[in-house]
Amino acid sequence: MKKVWIALTAGLVTFGTVQFVLPPSGWAVERAEAEETSRLLANLLKAGRSVVEHNQLLIDDPQKGDKGLTPEVFEQQLVQEFRKQTGLDLSKLKSTPASFVVPPLAKELLPAFVLASKEVVRDAQDLINQRGIGYKNFIPATYGSQAAERFSKRSHVRLKQTNLQPRNPKNEPDEYEASVLKWLSGRPQGEAYVSELTDHGRTLRVVMPLYYVTACLNCHGEPKGDLDISGYPKEGHREGDLAGAITVTAPLTRP
Ligand code: HEC
Repeated sequence: MKKVWIALTAGLVTFGTVQFVLPPSGWAVERAEAEETSRLLANLLKAGRSVVEHNQLLIDDPQKGDKGLTPEVFEQQLVQEFRKQTGLDLSKLKSTPASFVVPPLAKELLPAFVLASKEVVRDAQDLINQRGIGYKNFIPATYGSQAAERFSKRSHVRLKQTNLQPRNPKNEPDEYEASVLKWLSGRPQGEAYVSELTDHGRTLRVVMPLYYVTACLNCHGEPKGDLDISGYPKEGHREGDLAGAITVTAPLTRP
């Protein structure tokens, strides 16, 4: 798979196809493992957001009571969407040998994120199945925040959704995230993610950009300033604009 590798640390930007060879030192292995795991986790959160987006009309149907969007159905769709995005089949994760493609850390954390997602959907069942109300505020962003929060409480790896001007103050970027978002917003859309060591090499930060697609624009699009269905003023964005990012913060044991 072609990857775009961006090294910001030295103020140097490198694009190209990266051939992965397992690095010799233990710490380098740990860094490589944390990076691949972070990338996969960000993709998994992104896939979960897509599943919510695909079910949005169903979730917001005021006529229908039981929507059938159980935690198990959500899991099936999540596994399918993730496979479409990454080629990795989570249902076969246990029998997939640990390797650089699926590092041991990913084998542990991907199922933990699936579980967190299922719990969010389980806890939202009454809301989702409520008849008589349309918009329920169960949207990609609210699912994403809740799943990220649950997951991050149980793991040393932290997941977050953020944006330079977030609707929800909880999604405010930290200094590092803000600098990467500013950098990304000046660039054309790409498959890129940004990965960097911070904190004197003690923390790995991965930022995976999100871009607006048509389905987002009912709420985040034009006309700017008009209230959307969720009650927030629309931002006037267009398809392809940077929507924010999913960020991963992973502590490393050795600098
Ligand atoms: C139904 C309206 C609606 C749709 C459709 C929608 N959003 Fe949002 N979005 C919101 C709301 C409301 C929030 C704040 C959620 C909260 O309270 O945390 C939000 C938050 C976000 C955030 C987190 C940062 C922030 O502003 O708090 C991102 C990133 C985001 N949306 C991107 C998208 C993308 C990308 C799409 C399309 C795939 C999309 N949204 C579709 C309403 C919407």
